[in-house]
Amino acid sequence: MIHWLSQPASALPPHAETLLSPAEAATYAALKAPKRRSDWLLGRITAKQLVAEYLGSTGSAPSLNAIVIAADPDGAPYASMHGARLPLSLSISHSHDTALCALVDAAGKTVGCDIEYIEARDAAFLSDFFTPAEQVAALAWPEPHTATTLLWSAKEAVLKALREGLRIDTKQVQITLPNALDDEWATLGIALDPALAQRFPGAWSAWARRSGDFVQTMALCAAADAP
Ligand SMILES: CC(C)(COP(=O)(O)OP(=O)(O)OC[C@H]1O[C@@H](n2cnc3c(N)ncnc32)[C@H](O)[C@@H]1OP(=O)(O)O)[C@@H](O)C(=O)NCCC(=O)NCCS
Repeated sequence: MIHWLSQPASALPPHAETLLSPAEAATYAALKAPKRRSDWLLGRITAKQLVAEYLGSTGSAPSLNAIVIAADPDGAPYASMHGARLPLSLSISHSHDTALCALVDAAGKTVGCDIEYIEARDAAFLSDFFTPAEQVAALAWPEPHTATTLLWSAKEAVLKALREGLRIDTKQVQITLPNALDDEWATLGIALDPALAQRFPGAWSAWARRSGDFVQTMALCAAADAP
């Protein structure tokens, strides 16, 4: 089961930086650009709150300071407590002062999530990043800006679940749009091109919803040898 949490920066507790562990506080202190600092803090606190909520649902919720969100060398985040990594797959995204975080606790499953502000993209963006079928589908959708934002977001969610991000060509991931989008999670179609599917064998599920001016997406990959 995927657990998720989304919130705007305005929902953070006052002095949210006091909820950081010493290691996180050191990372935060090293960030200089104000936007990067605020995005990073919003993502970190939201991830901590999500992990605390999840742990609370399975036992007792720890304090936020005790949960440490760190990043592997490839950039993918993970959660730990008392020096031990938690057996979770965790994903973080932020856009226009709003964060979305998702986690899954099943062995062999990885999650990626993404939040994007809905805005127009030009023709070059579509041809650079989308397959021909996606371009046609987006332009035929009732709200093309929402469709292109959704396609981009879903690709990022998949590429985060693979822990690769934009090191992979976005055209290697084919997204099928839902018929409509509202605040309920709608199922998306996902197909990796044969070369990518061979490199990362697994079964995919993905969802999208609209929340105000944002599109949110989540992608889940169950590795071929997952139980
Ligand atoms: C992962 C990536 C697609 C995120 O892009 P984005 O839309 O700018 O940012 P989002 O807010 O949606 O997501 C950012 C979060 O993705 C996570 N992330 C970063 N690298 C990741 C990876 N390889 N796998 C999974 N998640 C990753 C981080 O938690 C990051 O937030 P944080 O740094 O505040 O903790 C992008 O950073 C990327 O492609 N990274 C890997 C390749 C790379 O480093 N390229 C250099 C720039 S092209």
